[in-house]
Amino acid sequence: MSKPTASKTRTAFVCCECGAEHGKWQGQCGECGAWNTLTQIVLESAAASPAARRSSWAGKVDPPKVTPLKDVLHREDARTSTGIGEFDRVLGGGLVEGAVILIGGDPGIGKSTLLLQALASMAGRLPALYVTGEESLAQVAGRASRLGLPLDGLSALAETGVERILEQASQMQPKLLVADSVQTLWTESLTAAPGSVSQVRESAARLVRYAKETGTAIFLVGHVTKEGGIAGPRVLEHMVDAVLYFEGDSGSRFRVLRAFKNRFGAVNELGVFAMGDKGLREVPNPSAIFLSGSGRQPGSCVMVTREGTRPLMVEVQALVDASPLSNPRRVAVGLEQNRLAMLLAVLHRHGGIMVGDQDVFVNVVGGIRVQETAADLPVLLAVLSSLRDRPLADKTIAFGEVGLSGEIRRVPNGEERLKEAATHGFKRAIVPKANAPKAGAYKGMDVIAVERLADALEAAAE
Ligand code: TYD
Ligand code: MG
Repeated sequence: MSKPTASKTRTAFVCCECGAEHGKWQGQCGECGAWNTLTQIVLESAAASPAARRSSWAGKVDPPKVTPLKDVLHREDARTSTGIGEFDRVLGGGLVEGAVILIGGDPGIGKSTLLLQALASMAGRLPALYVTGEESLAQVAGRASRLGLPLDGLSALAETGVERILEQASQMQPKLLVADSVQTLWTESLTAAPGSVSQVRESAARLVRYAKETGTAIFLVGHVTKEGGIAGPRVLEHMVDAVLYFEGDSGSRFRVLRAFKNRFGAVNELGVFAMGDKGLREVPNPSAIFLSGSGRQPGSCVMVTREGTRPLMVEVQALVDASPLSNPRRVAVGLEQNRLAMLLAVLHRHGGIMVGDQDVFVNVVGGIRVQETAADLPVLLAVLSSLRDRPLADKTIAFGEVGLSGEIRRVPNGEERLKEAATHGFKRAIVPKANAPKAGAYKGMDVIAVERLADALEAAAE
């Protein structure tokens, strides 16, 4: 038996929340402050040796030398369209050669479907390899034929060992590779169980290295855990060029793909799709699909959010109800929970409206997540409307950030949001003073400019 060459296995502890690496175990992550998130990982002994480090892809320019940046050769516009407009949009205008893209989302949301469709559409132009570790080849082929996809140039491989995947890839030399999913991958160089953080991390690192060496674009599929992170390895987010998350209600057919990180494009860019019997179909003009369509209801407020580079109308719903609990519930779906608690405190302190003995539930219709602060004012108007059991005036929209001292603050791209609302036939807008046009109206829409929360509540009560 050969003795292990490395003196001993090196291990480290990584935080599952933020991916920070620590030398020893501790209860709290020193980087992000999360508790109990450190997991031990085994570092590949060979990779840890200085010689191996030098031979990694970053060191391929041999010998390394300092170059003035303006002399570095690079190609612009080396982007390939995925054949799906909304997908291209999220990627920042198409797929870049050698990019590694992590696509995360709940099981069953449509990750495999989207990648199969994109791959089939690109395979005619670039040789593509679909590596499946979860489904059999027959299942993949069955889905492709059910969706009526062209299969020229598309090959598939049912394999989970990274070494064998890379061996096949070096023979076939695809320009596109999908690994579905990264949680099934494992490498022989580690003894840890497949699916463990060390395996997923090391396997992904191998694929990243391969992508950079060969210029192959790689999509990694990652499942999301109950807590919302890509199972264990938030760690992967640091290694890849782009992280895209699928969002959406399992009850609704609409799906939103969001760029969470993108080295080649804008973050928070959204792509909207509808799941049908022919797979995912893009929705190029998604503006109003997230409205519930149920008309004027107490507890509902329509807002114009601007995620990425286009405005989107979404409906915020609130339910305020007397709580049987001594510690009433504050539940936010599609919004940040802490922000809701903060807004309710501002509502009490600066709006004089007390919900301390009420359960407050807030939901964004359609399963989409709204991260920007422009949702503050709509949330409070929806809460007030539910509390009073009175709907807002017909055809009203709102947006605006609420500050801790009760001021309504400006949000970016105000005019663009007003324009979108006017296009969709809204008649009244409650917006920050700094965002309002001087005339008090915009394309036939009444614009009520508010400076303080109290003004906004008054405007909403009219
Ligand atoms: P899938 O791509 O397998 O999800 P993931 O890879 O993210 O786990 O999507 C599976 C779901 O999509 C499944 O619930 C069925 C549904 N679906 C359709 O509604 N229509 C279709 O044409 C396809 C292929 C799937
Ligand atoms: Mg899948």
